[in-house]
Amino acid sequence: MALTGRVAVVTGAARGIGRAIAEELAAGGANLALCDLDKDWLADTAKAVKDMGREVCCVSVNVADGDAVKTAVAEVVENFGRIDILVNNAGITKDTLLLRMSEDQWNAVLDVNLKGTFLFTKAAARVMMKQKSGSIVNIASVIGLMGNAGQANYAASKAGVIALAKSAAREFAGWNIRVNSVAPGFIETKMTEVLPEEVKAKLLEMVPAKRLGSVQDVARAVSFLAGDNASYITGQVLTVDGGMVM
Ligand code: NAI
Repeated sequence: MALTGRVAVVTGAARGIGRAIAEELAAGGANLALCDLDKDWLADTAKAVKDMGREVCCVSVNVADGDAVKTAVAEVVENFGRIDILVNNAGITKDTLLLRMSEDQWNAVLDVNLKGTFLFTKAAARVMMKQKSGSIVNIASVIGLMGNAGQANYAASKAGVIALAKSAAREFAGWNIRVNSVAPGFIETKMTEVLPEEVKAKLLEMVPAKRLGSVQDVARAVSFLAGDNASYITGQVLTVDGGMVM
């Protein structure tokens, strides 16, 4: 129970990796502010967290909207009085080859994945600075390290969140605020579930561990970086990818 009494904010917490992160932090003892586009979507995650005996507050927010993010963070502080952990997890894809990529497809992905991470980091860091403590974890992707055909917007956004985390780590270290990134590889989610078997087999050829990762694999790495066991770790990227990138 390394996170007992901590207040954790998780964006994109309604499903997938974000939900698993919320549950893992709750299992570690944290109370949770769950953020997603719609409050109703958060009901399942909220129930799972409550069933573990933790306090939970659900916040509707579009992470790409600066005013909405300020309001959301104020709502969390009103509820819990502090923010110890922020996990910037909300993310989207709009895949297509670069020459076919529209400005809208570029902007949509950069707005949510990169600007959303900037906005939440800025709003939560103000609270953490007053406390003189905090831990921020950005969910990047191995695609942000390797690039990928058909994902120029997504790759740029994820490389961006890694660089943003490193810059914030340097700026905030004096306030005892750490900022790290987790870069998942191929994770078993709705996104990978629909891939044809032969595509999955091809992907697995690149993974020394010879299996897809689980959402819990990612969540455990986030929980480690969020807590005091990682107290001397900042500005780092932890890949959770079965050895794909090394
Ligand atoms: P998902 O699509 O299952 O869940 C994303 C969540 O974010 C949803 O609940 C969605 O409503 C929310 N969201 C989307 N746009 C939002 C916005 N503007 N404001 C607030 N909430 C918003 O995605 P998944 O697979 O769980 O991915 C989570 C994170 O992990 C993303 O950042 C993704 O890029 C990253 N990732 C996922 C991998 C995978 O294999 N699934 C691999 C590497 C990284």
